[in-house]
Amino acid sequence: MPLLLRNIEKLLTMNGDAQNPLGVIQNAAVIIDGKSIVWVGKEDHVPYVVAETFDCLGGVVMPGLVDCHTHLVFAGSRRDEFVLRAQGATYQEIMQAGGGILNTMQATRWATKEELIELALPRLSRMLSYGVTTIEAKTGYGLSLIDELKMLEVMGALNQLQPIQICPTFLGAHAIPPEYKNRADDYVDHIIDEMIPQIKTQGIATSCDVFVERGAFTKEQGLRILCAAKAAGLSCKVHAEQLSHSGGAWLAAQVSALSASHLEYATDDDKKALAKTHVIAEILPTAQEYLGLSTAVSARSFIDAGLKVAVATDFNPGSAMCDNLHWAARLSVTRCGLSCEEALLGITRHAAKSVGRDDVGVIQAGKKADFCVLSSDNPWDLFYDWSLNPVRAVFKNGQEVVNVHHLTFGS
Ligand code: NIG
Ligand code: FE
Repeated sequence: MPLLLRNIEKLLTMNGDAQNPLGVIQNAAVIIDGKSIVWVGKEDHVPYVVAETFDCLGGVVMPGLVDCHTHLVFAGSRRDEFVLRAQGATYQEIMQAGGGILNTMQATRWATKEELIELALPRLSRMLSYGVTTIEAKTGYGLSLIDELKMLEVMGALNQLQPIQICPTFLGAHAIPPEYKNRADDYVDHIIDEMIPQIKTQGIATSCDVFVERGAFTKEQGLRILCAAKAAGLSCKVHAEQLSHSGGAWLAAQVSALSASHLEYATDDDKKALAKTHVIAEILPTAQEYLGLSTAVSARSFIDAGLKVAVATDFNPGSAMCDNLHWAARLSVTRCGLSCEEALLGITRHAAKSVGRDDVGVIQAGKKADFCVLSSDNPWDLFYDWSLNPVRAVFKNGQEVVNVHHLTFGS
């Protein structure tokens, strides 16, 4: 049964050109049928009568948001580490002292699948309320075959239990687990010989990520892992140049990764190499802010180098305990130099590319019927007003999954 979304003051198709980068259509309407968009245009030009309608009340409509970098599934709390950092400790010092990722690994290994699901569900329902309809989620808190598979199975179960689509990424190379202390190369062999083949057999991940950093993995180890992942049919992602210049951007370019994330320490040569191989630069301003880092990434310099920039939360219990993609978008403007238009592209169209998807992140006939409807008639309220969530309604796969009647904007 088709449905007409009408009374849209501004439709941001995210499918524009240099003159109209967001592809804005004023006084627009959209027809959806089942899970797909079938027509997009001005309300005056609706081509046939559609019995069922949804009134967007003169608000903005944009694609369902895509959070292309999250560590959604975890147990335990790292609030003590936040307090330690407030007293002057750094993220690396905490990691070297055995805290950090290994702290969450312990809690996540102890948790059952059911407990991990229960912990993730409220996080997902908050994300949905911000208009997020697709996310990427990484493993990396299991760090053993059984626990990494457990995390992927949790993501599979969550995909059946709630509306947000989760794209699962295998991040076995997130940290060196205690069983392999001082034997990083043996752990890399284990990832390549045991973990990746099992993941391939079960078909439960779409991408593979590596954390290239001092104290984590070298770019050479990352290359071995990502070559094996590619051969197993997974696409590649890299945590690159977050805390030091360690070669993650070089690696992402070598394997033509979907994305390189963080990039605080990326050089001009790195940017050129990434642009040449069409790697999306994923910036994670909530992580920078949360760790109190002074090195805010200059996303402007990425755009000047010809890169497409995506913006994500990096939601995780250590460096970014914040699942609010609106906040990441706001900080990408105030701290990283993006324009509001670029930030919106960063949480829709470019974020979709960063997870290897072209069926979401834009509003166009043939794409998925994923939308968010704002209670404001002006998209800049999402950036301007830090007090309110401007999302009034959310559609996923053509289904209305959120509808909140709250305050309207402006005076
Ligand atoms: O993206 N940098 C590595 N991984 C995460 C942090 C994970 C954690 O601290 O638990 C990140 O910042
Ligand atoms: Fe991350």
